[in-house]
Amino acid sequence: MSAHSPRVFSGVQPTGNLHLGNYLGAIRNFVRLQEEYDCLYCVVDLHAVTIWQEPAELRAATLEVASAFIAAGIDPEKQIIFNQSQVSAHAELAWIFNCVARLGWLNRMTQFKDKAGKNREKASVGLYAYPNLMAADILAYRATHVPIGEDQTQHLELARDIAQKFNNDFNAPDFFPLPEPLLQAEGARIMSLKDGSKKMSKSDPSDLARINLSDDADLIARKVRKARTDPEPLPGDPAGLAERPEARNLVGIYAALGDSSMERVLSEFGGRNFADFKSALTELCVEKLGPMGAEMKRLTADPGYVEDVLARGADRARAIAAPVMAEVYQTMGIVHR
Ligand code: TRP
Repeated sequence: MSAHSPRVFSGVQPTGNLHLGNYLGAIRNFVRLQEEYDCLYCVVDLHAVTIWQEPAELRAATLEVASAFIAAGIDPEKQIIFNQSQVSAHAELAWIFNCVARLGWLNRMTQFKDKAGKNREKASVGLYAYPNLMAADILAYRATHVPIGEDQTQHLELARDIAQKFNNDFNAPDFFPLPEPLLQAEGARIMSLKDGSKKMSKSDPSDLARINLSDDADLIARKVRKARTDPEPLPGDPAGLAERPEARNLVGIYAALGDSSMERVLSEFGGRNFADFKSALTELCVEKLGPMGAEMKRLTADPGYVEDVLARGADRARAIAAPVMAEVYQTMGIVHR
């Protein structure tokens, strides 16, 4: 149906520490997709600065996200790992899309409403236009598939609307593909260790609420031990977790990390108490995250290597995006050579 060959694009913002939710909800899936697709994985620094970032922290976080991609197993020779700002096509195409997207469309974006909060007058213009930049990220490469979490589906729909409107406005059917989401499985939604109704988040004031990818074995053990639970033993099947969000989250983490299912985990641990389960969970976390954490540490000690990966990735990304931009300008009647 589509005239476009399959290509994956996704982005992660370099803000704050990466945690288990980022890994199970996004990065691990990126690793798997590289078997099937040509992929671009982008550290979206221009998105990060829609909210003020401490420069030294932005720099460190950019290298941390890139290190996590590499440490998790994305092959930087086969796939393209880069940071957004090094490829000017993102900003250029975002401007074009600022002129394609309608105010009415952006006014419906729930993430802007959440992030801007009550003080909308003080939000940056960039925060408002954020979804147009995200559409540009994807469409500058004519990417067809976009792995995202549930919270980004509205932005991806907007990207499709922009692609379609551009194609219509310039009478260029199929100029841009209508990118499809690759949604993460439900189990990949990792919640706070302190409150099973809130997502695990880098902005949670308590560090005990999350497991950072940089945490060592002792810290992981401490956080799992201190994770909130309830007094009941574990149920024998997932239905028994319905009203127990904290228990459900820990079982979900165990299942996700072990490539298992909640059913299988509970058939093993049903009837046991949390002390037992937590020590098994700690062991699994350390087994699965330990090697990646160690590799991230090694990469952090060698920022020159990581910067090289980003620069080489940006060169390769530019080679794909530049001809698309040339066609965009040509199609619109913008003189450009
Ligand atoms: N908005 C995404 C997020 O917060 C990050 C992102 C930016 C992205 N550009 C993208 C994701 C393009 C997928 C495709 O998580």
